[in-house]
Amino acid sequence: MQRIAIIGTGYVGLVTAVGFAEMGNIVIGIDNDQEKLELLKKGLPPFYEPGLEELLRKNFEKGSIRFTDSIEEGARESDIIFICVGTPSLEDGSADLSQISAVSKEIAEHLDGWKLIVEKSTVPVMTSQWIKRTIKLYSRREGNFDVASNPEFLREGSALHDFFHPDRIVIGVESERAKENLIHLYKDFNCPIVITDINTAEIIKHASNSFLAMKISFINMLSDLCEKTGADVEMVAYGIGLDKRIGLQFLKAGLGYGGSCFPKDVRAFYKIAEEHGLHFGLLKETERVNQQRIERLMEKIKSAMWLPKNKVMGILGVAFKPDTDDIREAPSLKIIEILRREGAYLKIHDPKAIPNIKKVIKEDENLKYVDSPYKACENAEALIIVTEWDEYRELDLNKIKEIMKTPIIIDGRNIFKPEEVIKLGFEYYCMGRGNYQRGK
Ligand code: UGA
Repeated sequence: MQRIAIIGTGYVGLVTAVGFAEMGNIVIGIDNDQEKLELLKKGLPPFYEPGLEELLRKNFEKGSIRFTDSIEEGARESDIIFICVGTPSLEDGSADLSQISAVSKEIAEHLDGWKLIVEKSTVPVMTSQWIKRTIKLYSRREGNFDVASNPEFLREGSALHDFFHPDRIVIGVESERAKENLIHLYKDFNCPIVITDINTAEIIKHASNSFLAMKISFINMLSDLCEKTGADVEMVAYGIGLDKRIGLQFLKAGLGYGGSCFPKDVRAFYKIAEEHGLHFGLLKETERVNQQRIERLMEKIKSAMWLPKNKVMGILGVAFKPDTDDIREAPSLKIIEILRREGAYLKIHDPKAIPNIKKVIKEDENLKYVDSPYKACENAEALIIVTEWDEYRELDLNKIKEIMKTPIIIDGRNIFKPEEVIKLGFEYYCMGRGNYQRGK
């Protein structure tokens, strides 16, 4: 059992906190967002993540996890302090490290006795060195400490599963004591532990996300080529993915990557290389191809609908991916914005993310949020699939055909089998699958 403080209770921080508590540690979660804290102090998560609510409640009731806004309390009552605060994009694409810097200063003020300070947020290489220097500069008392990097690889929507069953654990350390502590913390995990120096660990994190984003842009570019040539991108992905060196995962063509990680990390990693005099053009191209996905969808909408103005369109899915209520950098935001500008009438559904999107895109006479996918289809002249929620795969297409005004589906995530949808009498547009994307 270890005493752990987790600063920042976003996706990474809260899932990590609950995970460590469930593994038998005593955890204090720290956040300065009072709205969030109010919920957490009742044992409730401030965002949706499958399984999180139950596991949080269980550990909260057991007393193995609690929450506070005081870094002082966290530092006093723990031996290991994880930094999990946000590192959003600045305007030039580089990471905004102001939260990390502020937290480091505050930790420094409350050090008493040896502590291990572990960087878990995704940060540019050499950030931990800055954390170390900041803590050294600002510690008032004689408290010795170590810093380490322990990047997280969990995905939203399957974050708890990823926490308990990681492919690997990466630990970047510069002292034996830090290494032993972290190995002990992860002793019950059944996966390789990669032990490196701190800079290497930091690069592993950015490189993993950037590589996966690059894989997605690669398949999306192939998707466009398949459309031009009548080939099928899903079979191309299968054909190349069976090669173990390539692998089948992250080869789903569609509307591209979004979320709080890939877009920001690809941009930040490019900037890091640039700051060191390197032009990482692959990353620039990855981003360019990703941004083009929205244009591709708009081309399909226009070739199906002619002019969007005054046309009723149902939109299924606004979350950046299924099983989350997160809409950060979601393709839906841009798609809705463009269609609105062009004068379409939109009926929008998502199983979880409507409360979040309502905060940034308000309802008006041309835009309504609906609480069932069928309501989005009523009288619609086209149905646009933006997020591949499982419940959309199971929709009764016969019923949908009956309630739509004109049976047109524009499927940005390839959730249906073209032959089946066409047999039912729909015009079906999808991404990179033979000639079907042209609606035939
Ligand atoms: C990603 C990484 O997968 C995690 O390992 C990492 O820990 C996390 O970022 C992070 O840095 O915090 P996440 O953003 O939650 O996780 O979501 P992913 O499942 O990786 O999907 C990212 C985006 O890629 C989504 O928009 C998804 O729709 C898209 N995607 C994914 C595709 O377009 N095609 C694919 O084949 C796979």
